[in-house]
Amino acid sequence: MPNLNDPRIPVLLFGLTTGIALSAVVQYLYQTYQTQKTITEAQSEVPQDELDSIAPSTAAEATIDRIRKEFYIPAARLQNMLKAFVKDMQRGLKQDGAIMKMIPSYVTRRASGSETGTYLALDLGGTNFRVCQVTLEGAGKVRTKQRKFVVSQELQKGTGTALFDFLAECVEKFLEESGIGKDTRMHLGFTFSFPVMQQAVNKGVLMSWTKGFTASNVVNEDVVSLLQAAFKRKNMNIKVAALVNDTVGTLASHAYVDPATVAGIILGTGTNAAYVEKIDQIPKWKGARPASGEMIVNMEWGNWGADRIPLPSTHYDNKLDRHSPNTGQQLYEKMISGMYLGEITRYVLLDLIATGELLRGQEVPELKKQYSFDTANMSRIERDYTKDLSDTRLLLEELYGITTSTLADREIVKHVCQFVGTRAARLAAVGIAGIVTKINKLDGCTIAIDGSVYEHYQHFGNRVRDALRELLGMCSDSIVLAQARDGSGQGAALIAALAES
Ligand code: GLC
Repeated sequence: MPNLNDPRIPVLLFGLTTGIALSAVVQYLYQTYQTQKTITEAQSEVPQDELDSIAPSTAAEATIDRIRKEFYIPAARLQNMLKAFVKDMQRGLKQDGAIMKMIPSYVTRRASGSETGTYLALDLGGTNFRVCQVTLEGAGKVRTKQRKFVVSQELQKGTGTALFDFLAECVEKFLEESGIGKDTRMHLGFTFSFPVMQQAVNKGVLMSWTKGFTASNVVNEDVVSLLQAAFKRKNMNIKVAALVNDTVGTLASHAYVDPATVAGIILGTGTNAAYVEKIDQIPKWKGARPASGEMIVNMEWGNWGADRIPLPSTHYDNKLDRHSPNTGQQLYEKMISGMYLGEITRYVLLDLIATGELLRGQEVPELKKQYSFDTANMSRIERDYTKDLSDTRLLLEELYGITTSTLADREIVKHVCQFVGTRAARLAAVGIAGIVTKINKLDGCTIAIDGSVYEHYQHFGNRVRDALRELLGMCSDSIVLAQARDGSGQGAALIAALAES
């Protein structure tokens, strides 16, 4: 036992504790130095793009999940929408003024394939105006030659006279180039892809503009008379023999090659469908009973849901609608078609920036411009399968000068595109299932589909198919969705030929 009274013990204890404390301090300082060194080294050695590739955090996942829920339409809801859709088709067939206009097209015959002759076809329905020369050679053969012209925003939103003069001028140029004299008598089919109350096969009044057009003095006017007058001002010897919607043209031209075709659908800048209906199923039709017993009906389905009841609109959709020139109209179209999908996505992205969930809240002034995010970008982003979404990074940089996106940001952007695009396809499937159910063709038929969204948005077709299966079960397998390309002009020429005979 050591003697506790020994005077050297306090000195020994003091020395011991001081030693321990000092070594602890030294160790602490050394560890801190080491940690600091690791962080500094890490920061200087890891390149910027690897920092960018920080995986989505739980916060990003929570954001993605929230947006997913906002845009998801469960199967049961789809079924209810289908029932409501068929009812609204019936309402439109019964009386004018319904949400879905269900306009009788006056086209009651399908081409037999034996029609011959050379016709002009015009196609106006968006930014591009097409002039075609269509030669029907008989035996189902068709030759076409066409030229596209751009309809500027000024023309779309200017006066009706300027717009129709422009159309006549384009035809004049086309004829000149084709070596056809201006005074040659030509018959023409006019595809005019807006809601027109048809009054004859070559007469119809524009009910309202859609897809951003607002040209003055055209609503409530017969568009054939306006076009005919523009030709007259240029001393052109052209007779407008048929006025058709693009959906009707698509149906007519596809039926020419596949007689099982019962509907023509456009999934492009706008969306709409036409189908073959039995005349007895159109109580509002007061004209003569056609020999065929049927008529093509232009549904103008884009306006479905204008009473806001069956559509699963989000606050982004409502904002888009409030800022559009036709508020309260074309609500179904505004959730499906190419003119609007990019715009919905833009609103979601702006919102996520505002909440700080995207780009750490950094403002992107360019993204604030209306319609600055084209739907084509969504398809490009969805096709970006690179590990670090480098194509998306490039696109964000090119379009908006964003150089600081993290992988988590890009994941969010990609998911938003996916949710908005998937919802659109599922909604379009409701319409297709609606037509097939209404005309009882669940045992098999062909639906011809044209338009940029269907053609170029890679996943769109498959998503429509998946939703059709959810809606119709096995029956959906016997429905052929056929890609139709540029058929509406050809269809207009065919209808002009039929009208003439
Ligand atoms: C708009 C038009 C409609 C057209 C569709 C597709 O919905 O109102 O007539 O068929 O766009 O172009």
